[in-house]
Amino acid sequence: MNDARELTEDAVLKIMEGYGNDSQQLIAVLLDIQAASGRNYVDRQWALLASKILAVPLSKIFDVLTFYAMFSVTPRGEYLIEICQSAPCHFSSGCSGRAQQVVDWFEGAAKIKMGQTSADGKITLARTSCVGACEIGPVAKIGDDVFGDLNGEKVTALVKCCREGNLNQFQNEAPQCQN
Ligand code: FES
Repeated sequence: MNDARELTEDAVLKIMEGYGNDSQQLIAVLLDIQAASGRNYVDRQWALLASKILAVPLSKIFDVLTFYAMFSVTPRGEYLIEICQSAPCHFSSGCSGRAQQVVDWFEGAAKIKMGQTSADGKITLARTSCVGACEIGPVAKIGDDVFGDLNGEKVTALVKCCREGNLNQFQNEAPQCQN
């Protein structure tokens, strides 16, 4: 599994070059660094490097990293599963109006609580507000992908796919993670 030690300085420099080393692109740069970390976070060493190359004070970079919920400065799971907790998803037919139901499905399948990361570093469970896919609620977001019409079976399959690094198969609308 990737971690901050495996994300090289060259790779981070390349990310910044891709944005012309433009300080106006700070959020995009940090998002790309976070995605490339393999653990969904921005390590301090890369924040320092970004500060130097983009000529942005380190304090401003940490302001950004701590202000936006999408960022983390500590390692999270390779798959960050964000469960929508906004009202329309609560009242979708799939979860019979019980916001906690979807959380329970994920916690049960992943065997961790909300906010925790699995021991194998594969999965972190988090809450999110509306991701704009209310019509297919209940919904969870993993990276840029949104998974809707969730039920207990789908959640179990989704978590299994994440554990096995096989999420693409679920995205191909396989009813279960095929292995
Ligand atoms: S309320 Fe869940 S996607 Fe909109």
